[in-house]
Parts: sequence; structure tokens; C-alpha cells
Amino acid sequence: MKLPGAVTISEVGPRDGFQLVGRVIPTETKIRVIRALYDAGVHDIEVTSFVSPKAVPQFADADEVARAALRLPGLRASALVPNLKGLERALAAGIRAVTVVIGATDAFNSANVRMTVSRSLEQLAAITEAARALPGASIEAGIAVAFGCPYTGPVPLDAVEAIVERAAALGITSVSLGDTIGVATPTQVAGAVARLAGIYPGARLALHLHDTRGMGLANVLAGLDAGVTTFDAAIGGLGGCPFAPGATGNIATDDTNYMLRGMGIETGIDQEGLLACGRLVAETVTADLPSHALRVHLSRARPTS
Ligand code: COA
Ligand code: ZN
Repeated sequence: MKLPGAVTISEVGPRDGFQLVGRVIPTETKIRVIRALYDAGVHDIEVTSFVSPKAVPQFADADEVARAALRLPGLRASALVPNLKGLERALAAGIRAVTVVIGATDAFNSANVRMTVSRSLEQLAAITEAARALPGASIEAGIAVAFGCPYTGPVPLDAVEAIVERAAALGITSVSLGDTIGVATPTQVAGAVARLAGIYPGARLALHLHDTRGMGLANVLAGLDAGVTTFDAAIGGLGGCPFAPGATGNIATDDTNYMLRGMGIETGIDQEGLLACGRLVAETVTADLPSHALRVHLSRARPTS
């Protein structure tokens, strides 16, 4: 198996994770969690989402959270945006790294952002144009339901390839392949990465995996072997899309870091610090966390009297 020397774990808990928490989390709590992740050495964090507060009330405080995160030196604080308005809000808050979410099927994209895929690609073009003038701006295309759609089932790789092609034509080299409903298997992941990397050798492909069917870490291994060095993950295994029925958590940052570090792959992240952050999330956000490493940690730390 081919293994890289180092991997970037991009934390998406404060975005993908918090969006599925039923109650609105206090802004101070969100900022505390981001700070705890940062202190553990997580220096690439999707800190919030500039979406419509009517669609996702959880992120009405996106500006405030982004501003607080941007005060942490050396943190790459990114945010999700669905459209030009989201980009404008993100830029006004000081964010320079955005992930533009585009579903691979019209059915999912319409449920998620009320647009066809081709309308989302027009937004991507407008966002690229608007961000181009800004020094330091970076745009990633986040392809949701790249492996399977809750509405239409298996997604042909051609649909994903068409989005990557359009992104490449716009000069976007960062693309993340999202298994939003956690249906992909390792051979599917390896096949998709190999084919896209073969067609677009300049693309930096990342994987955004959900662990809905327990395939998460197996898919990370398949991705590593195929040459992927950036993986999204969420602290404690938080995560899920409110517009994808049945979607559950992302791969847990703490499990992923345990595996990568244990395999001798550098992540820059301190496992004990991550577990402390997981405890903070369990105590202040939700105790419903599927991570394995955190469960071990919390059961060991429990008083025995
Ligand atoms: N941030 C805040 N407000 C926004 C916005 C954004 N990014 N984009 C649009 N709006 C506002 C408009 O200003 C308008 O406000 P008004 O009613 O006060 O005039 C209203 O929302 C409707 O605008 P419109 O462009 O017609 O949006 P829409 O109703 O078709 O919804 C989205 C489109 C993309 C804004 C909405 O579906 C959305 O935010 N989806 C996010 C879904 C999500 O977060 N999914 C999980 C992550 S993958
Ligand atoms: Zn996701």
C-alpha cells in the first residue's frame, strides 16, 4: 500500500457537524470548540456556513464565528457558501477560503440549495470571478452526493466528472468528493479518485466522507492508496446534511487521527488535545457522538465510585 508521509485533516465539525444539531448552539460555545480544535493542532477548520438563516437557522451567527476564528494565528479558517450572496457575506467577515457546495444530482441540489446543478455551476463561475481580484482567496468545489444520492440512488461518475471539468475550466484546482449519505465502498472511492486524477492531473482531490454504513476509515485507506492527502473529518463524528434524509456523521476526527498517527502518517494534531475537545463537545453541544476513540476516552475518565 502507498502511504503519504503527511496528511491534512480538514475539520468540518463546526459546519457539517453543527448544522445537524437540533437546537441553536450559543455562539460562545462554537468559538470555544473551534479554539479547542486549534489548541489540539487542527489548523484547517471549516468554521461556519454562509447560507440562508431561513434554510439553516444554526448559522445565523456565521459572521461572528468567522471573525473570532480569524483571530487565531495560522488557522486556515474556511466556510461553506452556496451562492454569490454567501461569498459576499464570507468576504465581508474576512474569510478568504470558501467551499462552494454543488450536489452531483439535480434532485439533491434542488433540495439542498434550490438550484439545478447547472445553476449552481453558474454561481460557481460568478463566485470565482468575484474572488479572483482578492489576494489570498481560495475556492474549493465541494461535490455533494458524489457517490450516491438519497433521491436518485447511485450517481454515475460522469456526473461528478462534468462538475470537475467545469471547475477546472474556471481555474479551480481544489475539489472535494463528498459521500454525503455514506454509501461508498473502498473500491468505488479508489476508482473515482484514480479516474479523476488521471483526467485532471492538476486537481487536488480531497475526500469528504460520512460513516453512515461504517465504511469511513476503510474509504480513507482506499483514498490514501489512491494518492489523496486531504480528508474532511468532524470531531466526535458529528455531521450530516439536513437536506439528505438519513445522513449521519462524518468520519470522526479523533478516530481518523488515531489511525493516521498510528500508521506513522504526520497530521500535526495532538490526539489527547482532540479527545479533550471531544469531551467539550459532549458536554456542551451533544452527548450523541459516534466516535470510537472518544467513547474509550470518556469511559476511562468516568469516576468509578
Ligand atoms: N445567506 C443569507 N441569505 C441569503 C443567502 C445567503 N447565502 N442567499 C440568499 N439569501 C436570502 C436572500 O437575500 C433572500 O432574502 P429575502 O427573502 O429577505 O429577500 C432569500 O434568502 C431568498 O433568496 P433566494 O436566492 O431566492 O434563495 P432561495 O430561497 O432559493 O434559497 C439558498 C437558496 C441557497 C440561499 C438556500 O437554499 C440555502 O441557504 N441553502 C443551504 C443549504 C445547506 O446549508 N445545506 C447543508 C450544507 S451542504
Ligand atoms: Zn458532509
